[in-house]
Amino acid sequence: MTLPPGEPFSAVLRQASVQDHADAESNGYMSDLMGGKLPLSAYTALTARLLPVYAALEEAAEAMREHPVAGRFVFAELVRRPALEADLAELLGPDWAGRIGESPAAHAYAARIREVAFTSPGGFLAHHYVRYMGDLSGGQIIGRRVERVYGLEGGRGTGFYRFDGLKTKPFKEAYRRRVDEAPFDAGERGRIIDEVRLAYRLNTAVFDELGAVDWSRAA
Ligand code: HEM
Repeated sequence: MTLPPGEPFSAVLRQASVQDHADAESNGYMSDLMGGKLPLSAYTALTARLLPVYAALEEAAEAMREHPVAGRFVFAELVRRPALEADLAELLGPDWAGRIGESPAAHAYAARIREVAFTSPGGFLAHHYVRYMGDLSGGQIIGRRVERVYGLEGGRGTGFYRFDGLKTKPFKEAYRRRVDEAPFDAGERGRIIDEVRLAYRLNTAVFDELGAVDWSRAA
């Protein structure tokens, strides 16, 4: 795509993916989950699908830790995998690992992260941005809603959405500054935008997969 000159890259990135974000946000499964129309097992299934995604993303972060460009996006306070595992233990019990089924959509998403985020700083940023900036934005709304709808008091089963000690507004501002400062040329910026849009579609595909389940039978 053609990039508008003079705009900070963080603003370009957001603008270029507005429609993809709207598609993810208005997805039927997501709306039903937020509206309390689905059983708790539908939320648990989403949590299970996030695990391979964050495992891939956080292994990539380890691989990129010393990279001069990508390493600037590696933050200990963002790490989500332990919280996801604790949530799954809460929601499914101590034998949770044997109780999460296969998900082609989550598998495809994690596979794409493994393909591009371990060696390409732009690929890493694209996937990192869509998940963590999303978690610090709409994710905060989702977490609060899920707690209320399912009566998950005290953050039981929703630890994934809690970033203890992190102030989301200043953190997101600092993150956007790093996006703006990163020395990506025009070609690489274009590829990052494409990858961000793909990452949104991979998220929506996970929601579509969850939306195709008959929860009245699965519950
Ligand atoms: C019910 C679902 C969702 C709601 C209500 C929601 C809401 C929001 C809101 C209000 C913002 C703006 C926050 C701000 O500017 O500080 C935002 C930003 C964002 N959301 Fe979502 N969101 C949802 C789902 C998603 C999903 C599924 C993803 C991707 C996995 C996502 C990724 C993002 C990203 C990356 C941003 C940051 C955009 C930027 O400023 O560059 N969101 N979301």
